[in-house]
Amino acid sequence: MSLAAEPFGALPDGSPVLRYTLSRPGGLTLRVLTYGGIVQSLQVPDTRGQVANVVLGFASLGGYLAATDAYFGALVGRFANRIAGGRFSLDDKSYVVDVNAAGNCLHGGRTGFDKRLWRAEAFSDHELRLSLTSADGDQGFPGRLSVEVTYRLLESGVRIGYRASTDAPTVVNLTNHTYFNLAGEGSGSVETHTLVIDADQFTPVGCALIPTGEVALVAGTPLDLRTETAIGARVRDPHRQLLAARGYDHNYVLRGTGFRRSARLADPATGRVVEVLTDQPGLQVYSANFLDGSHVGTGGRAYRQGDGLALETQHFPDSPNHPAFPSTVLRPGQLFASSTIWQFHTE
Ligand code: GAL
Repeated sequence: MSLAAEPFGALPDGSPVLRYTLSRPGGLTLRVLTYGGIVQSLQVPDTRGQVANVVLGFASLGGYLAATDAYFGALVGRFANRIAGGRFSLDDKSYVVDVNAAGNCLHGGRTGFDKRLWRAEAFSDHELRLSLTSADGDQGFPGRLSVEVTYRLLESGVRIGYRASTDAPTVVNLTNHTYFNLAGEGSGSVETHTLVIDADQFTPVGCALIPTGEVALVAGTPLDLRTETAIGARVRDPHRQLLAARGYDHNYVLRGTGFRRSARLADPATGRVVEVLTDQPGLQVYSANFLDGSHVGTGGRAYRQGDGLALETQHFPDSPNHPAFPSTVLRPGQLFASSTIWQFHTE
């Protein structure tokens, strides 16, 4: 096993960005940037031992700096997903946070954690520890937040561990925004991949993808992915929820609690399978509806709508404005701790 760092360009202010490579002989190779904590590449063998990079991204830093709204592979915070109107109240105080998406706060605001330079430390030969401090008032959020994310290479998977603490009451929702394409990034649509989501319910959205507050059953809708279903099978159903999101872009209410499986994505052509395990209550399933062919990916091919699938383990969108949703409040003295595993195998 090995862990090594190399330069990966510099930010406009001259700060150097590093790329860390974690690899296991005969197994996975994971490449992570100090910019945005981005998973830049993840090489995974198929049934015949052929290796491919199964995550969307770019070959150089410039690509990430230009694609500000796609969040390829990035760590997302302080608050993944949307906060309606960029407003919420906490302990009877009102807060206004940065609005960067149709009048709402998306993924922590304009300068979210995906656009920050993280401190990096090789914790062992298979574990990279990233950290940052988000100042009180960063993008409008209260409290000085200390965040630590570790990427650990497993036998045949990746574990992402999140920890956060604050010096004043605040809200936190952290995730990673990797888009998977198990046939290899740049190989086209993932519509023939099959998907299972371990959820009986989802949180319907209204305009601008803000949850209505309802929790609805997936049964009888094209959002029912409880049994293995090709992504393309129902993505064109003229269902209100799919039309509002241009495809799948919904938070699923995961079944059960504790660390458990949330999703299984498989590519019948290569036999690659990834299972996503998490302790979080929700999973945002996003079928890359906004990719429009304007970004040239790592391997030199443009990414179009549906060329990847993001499985974002998280709390429900807009939780600070929905007291009935699991709480995202973090108080001084509490530790936010969560983990997600991407477990790969072949079939
Ligand atoms: C997803 C979100 C989408 C879109 C995307 C970034 O997490 O659910 O609506 O904003 O990020 O392009």
